[in-house]
Amino acid sequence: MNQPLTMSAPSAEPFQCTPLPIGWLVEGYRIRHLVARGGFSFVYQAVNRSGEVFALKEYFPHGFVKREDREIEPTVLPDKEQAFWYGMKCFFEEGRTLAQIRHPNVIRVCDLLRAHETVYLVMAFEEGRNLQHYFHAKRGRVSEPFLRALALRLLSALRAVHAHRLLHLDLKPANVILRHDGQPVILDFGAARHGIAHELAWQRPMYTPGYAPPELVAGQHEAIGPWSDLYALGAILFAGMTGKPPPKAEERQECDTVPEQLQALADRYSESLRTLTETLLARDPLARPQSAYAVYKRLRDEGTVTLSARISDAAKEHIAAPGVDQADAPAPTSMTERTAAHSPAAAHQPAL
Ligand SMILES: Nc1ncnc2c1ncn2[C@@H]1O[C@H](COP(=O)(O)OP(=O)(O)O)[C@@H](O)[C@H]1O
Ligand SMILES: [Mg+2]
Repeated sequence: MNQPLTMSAPSAEPFQCTPLPIGWLVEGYRIRHLVARGGFSFVYQAVNRSGEVFALKEYFPHGFVKREDREIEPTVLPDKEQAFWYGMKCFFEEGRTLAQIRHPNVIRVCDLLRAHETVYLVMAFEEGRNLQHYFHAKRGRVSEPFLRALALRLLSALRAVHAHRLLHLDLKPANVILRHDGQPVILDFGAARHGIAHELAWQRPMYTPGYAPPELVAGQHEAIGPWSDLYALGAILFAGMTGKPPPKAEERQECDTVPEQLQALADRYSESLRTLTETLLARDPLARPQSAYAVYKRLRDEGTVTLSARISDAAKEHIAAPGVDQADAPAPTSMTERTAAHSPAAAHQPAL
């Protein structure tokens, strides 16, 4: 059985990996600046000929390719060709599937480009900050209304993703952008794979320790399913409450401190939220809820406030948080209004 790879980027980079130059034109999209440099990509902000702003994600797996100053095409390193091409295929398929999903909390993929011997994903550019920075700024004391609103939107997004027979498999705060109005948007389906479980058997999934469920870490492909993303959602809730991800799945096997860590938060979080988080973080996949919708219903039915009120709370908290960019932050409005403003297609989504 293939062993999964951890998600950590190669630490030392003996080869030069230069991003594309500012002003460079990629099939009609002009690079404005580099937004992020991940283990597998460069993300740029770019504008098209009409001046619309997009995020351009360039498939660039560091450690497999290099690019010197003034070069444009990445050069694949010796012996890495197979891995590079396989990764490119996954990247391309990820883009193709994502392009079919229209959901206000899932990144909108507008186009896929082949250029410079690699592939580019053209996405809506999401203003905001990533959830990891937000959690960091709050030092783990994220309020319960915020976490409930967040979970509801992420569950709604996961339901849409799973309905396309896609699993995220690397859901974590760093892969969620929090818009200024408090709406979360899931990105980075880089570890996503088509065709649940059985088609995974020949692949080597990648994961982030702490957020990855035991079945992914152990390479038990037949046990991977929508519930694996629900584990990651539990880990996000845990991180919001404690300021750090849960212990790695391997450590939990030896000595599981999750129940006692959650118990210690009894003065700040309701029993129902702590229990839900613990259930989502069940080590046994069968002990977890099996579908995003089941959890969504449970959370929704527990609530006494309306979803839009919760989102408004979340938005206020977000805007008031220390260090959060306040420029252009819209006044909180009802979720329906904001959603429609951001994504006209969202109006066609089945309401969860
Ligand atoms: N569509 C987007 N709009 C704005 N920022 C984005 C977008 N996509 C990615 N980013 C930024 O780039 C970072 C890395 O993107 P991600 O897709 O997670 O790539 P990686 O595979 O390198 O982790 C994100 O954390 C986010 O800050
Ligand atoms: Mg990422």
